[in-house]
Amino acid sequence: MSSLVNLSKEAGPIGIFDSGYGGLTIYDEIKRLLPEYDYIYLGDNARTPYGTRSFDIVYEFTREAVRYLFAQGCQLVILACNTASAKALRSIQQLDLPLLDPNRRVLGIIRPTVECIGEVTKSRHVGVLATEGTIKSLSYPLEIRKLFPDIEVTGEACPIWVPLVETNEFASEGADYFVKRHIDNLLARDSKIDTIILGCTHYPILIDKIKKYVPEGIIVLTQGAAVASSLKDYLHRHPEMDALCTKGGVTAFCTTESGGKFGDQASPFLNQPIEVKTVTLE
Ligand code: DGL
Repeated sequence: MSSLVNLSKEAGPIGIFDSGYGGLTIYDEIKRLLPEYDYIYLGDNARTPYGTRSFDIVYEFTREAVRYLFAQGCQLVILACNTASAKALRSIQQLDLPLLDPNRRVLGIIRPTVECIGEVTKSRHVGVLATEGTIKSLSYPLEIRKLFPDIEVTGEACPIWVPLVETNEFASEGADYFVKRHIDNLLARDSKIDTIILGCTHYPILIDKIKKYVPEGIIVLTQGAAVASSLKDYLHRHPEMDALCTKGGVTAFCTTESGGKFGDQASPFLNQPIEVKTVTLE
């Protein structure tokens, strides 16, 4: 397994991985806060969505992505995908890293997201909108309970939301029906919810629709800023890893789908034209 990985101790870009476009919402905030670093963004658009896939498949696909990013020289990889963080992170950290390269790091985004929740909710009732995989994994209630045992967490899976983003239908009238339905379902299950976590990195792309249907007074939390500030803090606390992250301010974008298609869809979101390479994961 380790034969594909570049085992050099040389500094490299920070890897950011998602099943598709969603991780761009995390990349965008990271790049804003830490513009001096180099990044490789990898979207597995050819195999998205991950949210409805089994544990074994999400683990296998995520492991392939991590190996690809390691082979590109990344010493640090962020799983900018809740489904991968929920279903693959622990196995990769415990089973794969010791074999691939114990000095490299793979970090998830669920923990940094929930750390601030105790200060945000007043009612101590929190809702989570996420993929089926993330909701079924119970990662959010488990992580929140560890830090804030008094908070009640209710989750709602939104299986159509990622396809709405990936097919560029997120602004369409049809999207309203599915966005409203899942928000209504969540709030019907717990009317005391005062804070909703968007626990899927694709969902901020639907933020205009989401805000339209979330009643006033309920806070909608996206993850990008929290993940970016947690990464900044991590690099500060780990100067040895910081020294292994190159700082040229350059980002390379890769996808397992058509690079042109990814570029067309991602460029408006990033407010700049981007060049995208098509890669194969194995
Ligand atoms: N963006 C990913 C997440 O945060 C998942 C999308 C998918 O279902 O592929 O969970």
